[in-house]
Amino acid sequence: MENPFSLEGKFILVTGASSGIGRGTAIACAQMGAKVVLSGRNETRLQETLASLAGEGHLVLCGDLNSEETRKEIVDKMPPLNGVVYCAGISQIQTAKFMDQLSLEGIFQTNVFSPLMLNSLLLKKKKIQKNASIIFISSISGVYRSQVGEGGYGATKAALAGFAKSLALELSAQGIRVNTIHPGVVETPLLEVSNGTLGEEELETLRQKYPLKRFGKPQDIAYCAVYLLSDASGWMTGSNILIDGGFTLK
Ligand SMILES: NC(=O)c1ccc[n+]([C@@H]2O[C@H](COP(=O)([O-])OP(=O)(O)OC[C@H]3O[C@@H](n4cnc5c(N)ncnc54)[C@H](OP(=O)(O)O)[C@@H]3O)[C@@H](O)[C@H]2O)c1
Repeated sequence: MENPFSLEGKFILVTGASSGIGRGTAIACAQMGAKVVLSGRNETRLQETLASLAGEGHLVLCGDLNSEETRKEIVDKMPPLNGVVYCAGISQIQTAKFMDQLSLEGIFQTNVFSPLMLNSLLLKKKKIQKNASIIFISSISGVYRSQVGEGGYGATKAALAGFAKSLALELSAQGIRVNTIHPGVVETPLLEVSNGTLGEEELETLRQKYPLKRFGKPQDIAYCAVYLLSDASGWMTGSNILIDGGFTLK
């Protein structure tokens, strides 16, 4: 019997594949049989991800997605895709009172404008195949909760969720599905930035607020991405999936 969760025969682009959730997602996709296109800026860490992938035929396309030129070059080299995971992103802590336009533009550029423009180019160049699956990695921040200083970051993550709904409608005629994943705190290098103001003790206090008593691991998010990329989720589109160890329950 065919495994509906298999990614065998699928080409999947994962942005942010040089670190954290993106790296975990790339590894899980390859485990499930996909050929993965790895995108990120740091060539060394992308090669490390590549070395951890099962199977063969994967591709590394290194470059800064904030550059229009780079996006064009990357899309030109892209094979036809059956799935995309927009995972590249940055975090920022800035209170509303001391917000400056340059920083705000910076985080919107990386977290919103770059994935949306990359997506547009992939569609224009017909690199996203019929029945493909597109995933945006959003956050619990913005849509489900927030904290002081997280307004800019949360706004970018809420923007992705808003955009994904419209894209899901636009692409439904081609059977292309679009969903967002909203993780709680996941242990990755980004955690240092987003919770950089917290000491070890405060971090532990936060961890204890998670009903399952731990932060997420990249695999916790990756396995959900695998499901959304697979044919098993064939009737899911326009959904926001919350994965937060129960944090937003209380
Ligand atoms: N960790 C969490 O607690 C958490 C919770 C909710 C949502 N998220 C979201 O999950 C996603 C991944 O986060 P993470 O925790 O895995 O972070 P991470 O370990 O810091 O990884 C971020 C990735 O984004 C890439 N990236 C950033 N700017 C880029 C650019 N301009 N062009 C190309 N690639 C770029 C980085 O590439 P290089 O390193 O090669 O530069 C890296 O691969 C983000 O969108 C984040 O907002 C994270």
